[in-house]
This record gives sequence, structure tokens and C-alpha cells, in this order.
Amino acid sequence: MSITKQQVIERFLPDTPLPGTTADAFAPSNIALCKYWGKRDAELNLPINASLSVSLGELGSRTSITPVDADSDQVFLNGELLAADSSFARKVIRFVDLFRRDLRQPLSIRTENNIPTAAGLASSASGFAALMLALDQFYQLGLEPARLSAFARMGSGSASRSIFDGFVEWHKGSREDGMDSCAERLDIEWPGFRIGLLKVATGVKKVDSRSGMQRTVESAALYASWPQQAGRDLATIKRALADRDFELLGATAEQNALSMHATMIASWPPLLYWQPESVAAMHRVWELRSLGVEVYLTMDAGPNLKLLYQTADEAAVLDAFPELSDLDLVAPFG
Ligand code: DP6
Repeated sequence: MSITKQQVIERFLPDTPLPGTTADAFAPSNIALCKYWGKRDAELNLPINASLSVSLGELGSRTSITPVDADSDQVFLNGELLAADSSFARKVIRFVDLFRRDLRQPLSIRTENNIPTAAGLASSASGFAALMLALDQFYQLGLEPARLSAFARMGSGSASRSIFDGFVEWHKGSREDGMDSCAERLDIEWPGFRIGLLKVATGVKKVDSRSGMQRTVESAALYASWPQQAGRDLATIKRALADRDFELLGATAEQNALSMHATMIASWPPLLYWQPESVAAMHRVWELRSLGVEVYLTMDAGPNLKLLYQTADEAAVLDAFPELSDLDLVAPFG
């Protein structure tokens, strides 16, 4: 049995817990350019490979925590009080419990997501990162960014990257307690970098990332080549970022995403997150590229596409994808 989250966290908390005050924190959502797929430790969410993402600026989650005069915790999502046994409320309370120790004061925990629901983006990364930042304030923990990132990772792997803005690398680490498996902001600004959130299918029931990656690692022979490819892609993407080489960056990110999907498809039972509309949109991206527009795609564990392009190509991208509204266009550097 490996070390538990609770055991790891307790080592870094003050000896005497300070009573909670109030807290209000924001964390951005993020999209990986080199994907995290596969865990070497499911309890701590330790990844098999390192990954690299871009944070989505002002799109993300805001979480506030206040003591409440009630018999038990209250969890709100987008203004609505959730049933205590709902899956979101249970996840939030389980995470808060890791930091609460014997302070039994019931709390009101409110999360607001400003990611357009229509964009079909998962909010667990920004949600756990914002919750971690709020817990750090609330219990006056004064944790360093790297520790906040390692702890947020225990909520959801990709949350480790949402502690930071801009381009972010999540080191896979090698320690058993995972404390070196944390993210770091890369010192790169790219003002013209844009992301288009292309929602192509609604109401599709999906297998979540946690079970999807477990199934892939356990059943896809093709997965054996993934860690090596991810390592190579990460190095290439870092080089492309340093050189502001958009073509190399886009091509590597697109191939990385499609390679991850290839391992998913090679799982049993097969995991095909794409819908017919996803494939049609991929062909539109490739068609546009053949006309000279530098646009690339990436996809996560769902049917939607994220388009990567630069401001100079925005008009051409909007022409080809008229369904993109202003709300779907993200400028990570403002
Ligand atoms: C395909 O971070 O949601 O989006 O650690 O089980 O919570 P858990 O998984 P999660 O997985 C994200 C997978 C991905 C790729 C990525 O964001 O790197």
C-alpha cells in the first residue's frame, strides 16, 4: 500500500492548526499541449509522463470559504446549494477534510465557474486549484507555489498546472511521496497566442479521465510507446516555445493529442471520445491548413476540439468556423 494523501499533506501543515478565517481565490482552467495520460500512483495522481499546458487567463474557477452557522458543510456550485451526497459536494468535502484536522467548524464552500458551459471544458483542474488556493488562505498555511501545485494534484492531476498562469510544465517527479511532482510556470509570454474552444457535440456520455487512463494503461499494447513519445514532444514543445516557432509548436501539440487518442482507441473496451462531428471538424482544420492558415487542433477526453492559432490568422479561423463566438476565443496573455 503506497503512502496516502493524508499522510503526505500532514507533514507540511503547521503543528497547531489555526482556526479558519475567510478565503476567496481564483485559478484558471488549462489545456495541455503535451498531454498527461496514465498514472504511476492512483492515490496521489502521480503521472507516468510529464506534461505542458497553457492556462486560460481569466477563464476558470473562483472559490470562497467562510465559516457557517449550520450543522454541516454547505457546498455551492454556480450559486446553487448542492445535496451533500452529490458527487461534486462529496469530492469537495473529501478534499477539504485533508486539511481540516480537528477543526470541526462547518464551512460554506462556494465555487463559481466562468468557463462557458457551451465550450464543453472540464472544470476539475481549475476547481481543485482554486479550492487548494482558498484552503491555503483559509487555514493560513502559507504554502509555497510548488507545494500548492503538488497538493492540488492530489485532487486532480491537471489541477497541478492550474495553480499558474501562462505556459506551465508539470514535472513527473520520482519521489514516493510525490512532492517533486508539481508544476512550474515557464518564463514565456506569447501575446498573440490564441485558443478557440470548438464545441462540436453535446450530451455525450463520457468515460472520465481517471477511468479512461486506467483502462488505457491496463489494456492498450500501444500505450507502451506513449511515455517516450510524450517525453520527446515535451522537449520539442519547450524548444518551439523558446523560439516562438508556432508551426513546430502546433504540429507537435496536434500529433501529441492524436497519439494519446490512438492509445485510447487501442484500449479494450475501446475508448473513442470522438463523435462524427469531431472528425468533420478535424478535416476542416486540415483543409484550412492546406490553404496556408496556421491552425492546429488538440483534444482531451471528450468530443470537442481546441484550435491553436495566432491573432494574424483569427479572421481566417472565424471564417471557417463561424460557430465560434467571442466567448469561445481565449487570449491566455490578455
Ligand atoms: C486528457 O487531470 O482530469 O485532459 O488526475 O484523474 O483527475 P485525474 O485526471 P485529469 O486528466 C486530464 C487528462 C487530459 C490531458 C491533460 O489535461 O493533460
